[in-house]
Amino acid sequence: METPSLIFVGFLCVLWVLDCVGVVEGIGVNWGTMATHELPPGVVVQMLQDNGIQKVKLFDANDTTMSALSGTGIEVMVAIPNDQLAAMNDFGRAKKWVTRNVTHYNGVNIKYVAVGNEPFLAAYNNSFIQTTLPALENIQNALNAAGVGDKIKATVPLNADVYNSPTDNPVPSAGTFRSDISDLMTQIVQFLNKNNAPFTVNIYPFLSLYANEDFPVDFAFFDGVSAPINDNGVMYTNVFDANFDTLVSSLKAVGYGNMPIFVGEVGWPTDGDKNANLQYAQRFYNGLLKRLTAKQGTPLRPGNIEVYLFGLIDEDAKSIDPGNFERHWGIFRYDGKPKYPIDATGQGQNSYLIGAKNVDYLPQKWCVFNPAANDNVNVTKMGDNINYACTFSDCTSLGYGASCSNLDAQGNASYAFNMYFQVQNQVPMSCDFEGLATVTTQNPSQGNCNFIIQIASSFSLGPSFSILVISFLCLAFYLM
Ligand SMILES: *[C@@H]1O[C@H](CO)[C@@H](O)[C@H](O)[C@H]1NC(C)=O
Ligand SMILES: *[C@@H]1O[C@H](CO)[C@@H](O)[C@H](O)[C@H]1NC(C)=O
Ligand SMILES: *[C@@H]1O[C@H](CO)[C@@H](O)[C@H](O)[C@H]1NC(C)=O
Ligand SMILES: *[C@@H]1O[C@H](CO)[C@@H](O)[C@H](O)[C@H]1NC(C)=O
Ligand SMILES: *[C@@H]1O[C@H](CO)[C@@H](O)[C@H](O)[C@H]1NC(C)=O
Repeated sequence: METPSLIFVGFLCVLWVLDCVGVVEGIGVNWGTMATHELPPGVVVQMLQDNGIQKVKLFDANDTTMSALSGTGIEVMVAIPNDQLAAMNDFGRAKKWVTRNVTHYNGVNIKYVAVGNEPFLAAYNNSFIQTTLPALENIQNALNAAGVGDKIKATVPLNADVYNSPTDNPVPSAGTFRSDISDLMTQIVQFLNKNNAPFTVNIYPFLSLYANEDFPVDFAFFDGVSAPINDNGVMYTNVFDANFDTLVSSLKAVGYGNMPIFVGEVGWPTDGDKNANLQYAQRFYNGLLKRLTAKQGTPLRPGNIEVYLFGLIDEDAKSIDPGNFERHWGIFRYDGKPKYPIDATGQGQNSYLIGAKNVDYLPQKWCVFNPAANDNVNVTKMGDNINYACTFSDCTSLGYGASCSNLDAQGNASYAFNMYFQVQNQVPMSCDFEGLATVTTQNPSQGNCNFIIQIASSFSLGPSFSILVISFLCLAFYLM
């Protein structure tokens, strides 16, 4: 009598164990939250666990996020945003930060504190040059004083333009830290070394391609090039290796050639630019994941590389100063659906990651251009209303080379109106636009151009409940 239910529970347990096998074992992800409609942190944490993702890097220390990570064992890099670096130059303030945002969370597996984010980026006009190193020192010293410094390390995620090779000898082995900050970089490296902390760098082959029309496309990927860079007999076939090894050489030049290096961000966006699409993202990740799982490393650093993919979920409220692609870096869409199949195990088999569960959507309603307004379309009025809609929502998919760039003028208007309507949680008055718009229940999506329905903010039981139930059943099963 009991046999069928036993078999069923056994089956559940097998499924559960399979679920927990690290699909992307050892690889971390960046979890950014600059979205108009955030997935509930509990839903995101469940998604991480379903995919065996065991490491996350955050951009702040949000209480809701940290609580959702509590008890999961997921390794966390928590962060201090750039605008708080100056405050951390006061040791008392740094100690308070550590007490509130590190030691307070004794259920969270915090391993690293990211002090700032790319603080030496040229776009920041040297704003953080003075404050970054003292903040790093104070935070690590505060961690040490709190007795957790042996297991929690402070590091500074830096952009890859803190080092380079001379223009007359552009090979990785000639890499050094950028001349204007070389003393500062040396002091940072010395401090990291003293505390056994890693150097963290963000490497973006996509940006190399974006920034330079003449950049050889194949060199951005991992599947070979016709003319590799020959560095004294070492052949470089992709910009990731070349960039990483330029850093290895730069570290070596200041006496720390063996310092551990973390890649704090690496990834490929899927929309908002002609090179940002699903095919390229898939090609990039498949190449990257294959070499990561094979622990291939780079010519100067064979072996395992610690990597955090950028990023987990699309963020429709990110600044688009760097480009329209900024809101499309997720390996998952805004609603936690996987975008493309990837070879997550590096075994040559593409499959979709497991999407977010229990996501609540707004009703199946869209806001579109009203065909009845067609008789006397006033071009100025249309333009003004589209501009308004796009100022307060995300129209980056309409731009040149993006997924909705082939819409006609009315399609453009519909797309913009709908994005605004969804951001406004579909409140009826947000679909008027001086009589140009109307609500429809027919999905207006065309081809690759997706007219979205936003997610509803909702209460969720999160991962702990279902895991508790399944664990209990499994335990009962094994005890029998
Ligand atoms: C923390 O995140 C939650 C949603 O995940 C958000 O509602 C809240 O405003 C955030 N808190 C702060 C201080 O940013
Ligand atoms: C903890 O982190 C949050 C989010 O990054 C920050 O706003 C807050 O000031 C920090 N708390 C302390 C006491 O420093
Ligand atoms: C940097 O300087 C430029 C030119 O002086 C200015 O336009 C820009 O707003 C500054 N950016 C920041 C982040 O301070
Ligand atoms: C078109 O719309 C603009 C702005 O709403 C208005 O100023 C203009 O008079 C309109 N033109 C016509 C021909 O209706
Ligand atoms: C649609 O909008 C995009 C972005 O604003 C613009 O570049 C394009 O020219 C528009 N297309 C038409 C047919 O109006």
